[in-house]
Amino acid sequence: MRVIAHISDLHFGHEDKKVVEALLADLSSFPLSLIVVSGDLTQRARTSEFIAARAFLERLPVGYLVVPGNHDIPLYNLLHRLSRPLERYCQYITDDLAPTYQDSEIAVLGANTARSLTWKNGSLSNKQILNLSQKLQEIPESVFKIIVTHHQFLPQPGKRLQTVIKRAPLALQTLESVGVDLILAGHLHVGYQDDARTHHPILKSIIVAQAGTAVSTRYRGETNTYNLITLEQNSISIMVRCWNGKDFRENSTSNYIRKGLFWQKN
Ligand SMILES: [Fe+2]
Ligand SMILES: [Fe+2]
Repeated sequence: MRVIAHISDLHFGHEDKKVVEALLADLSSFPLSLIVVSGDLTQRARTSEFIAARAFLERLPVGYLVVPGNHDIPLYNLLHRLSRPLERYCQYITDDLAPTYQDSEIAVLGANTARSLTWKNGSLSNKQILNLSQKLQEIPESVFKIIVTHHQFLPQPGKRLQTVIKRAPLALQTLESVGVDLILAGHLHVGYQDDARTHHPILKSIIVAQAGTAVSTRYRGETNTYNLITLEQNSISIMVRCWNGKDFRENSTSNYIRKGLFWQKN
């Protein structure tokens, strides 16, 4: 069994310092193997924001795997945006844009979906999809495989026309063929979970967990949240923990059990 925390959309520069402290305290109360950070660490990719984000990461109670988001690319400085989009992210957070965590039970692979030429929408290139596939093929079948991106593969409930990652159908079919069972993402500042096949019927079954904004005041109709995920080879439990003005508490938990080729909600 493995327990991982999935936090997203920190937006340092727009963070609530009380929530930052409460989140760190809450994370410290669980036996985590890893903390996944699915992008938008900063509000405007300013140096001061990256320094604050870095300081936060260094206070996390266990190791972390991080990918960038669209807000980690400068918005207004066009020269910087087009020629060196992730320079500050690479300088202050990590220069590994395809990070991997692996132990005897889980493998977590991150991919950068943020692009200079589109502000809000995410993309995966054919080369990234191939690289993920090649890495995953080398991991034993018994290891639970997880992908992390900033942008969403699954629109939020009730918004079927919402844009998803460019090449999502190709990426998802490829990832499913090499054993991916779970995708973690953010960007929308709304937490939800479902099977990706509800939007991509060509798939058999991949569970998607979207995290809300963990510590920022950029609310999109819900408070600060993060996902606490418990994994076994044949079960996924996704607890959404919500800020209530004082601390983080369980808000809801979704449980999925593997039945043959499919994940069934319990
Ligand atoms: Fe965001
Ligand atoms: Fe974003």
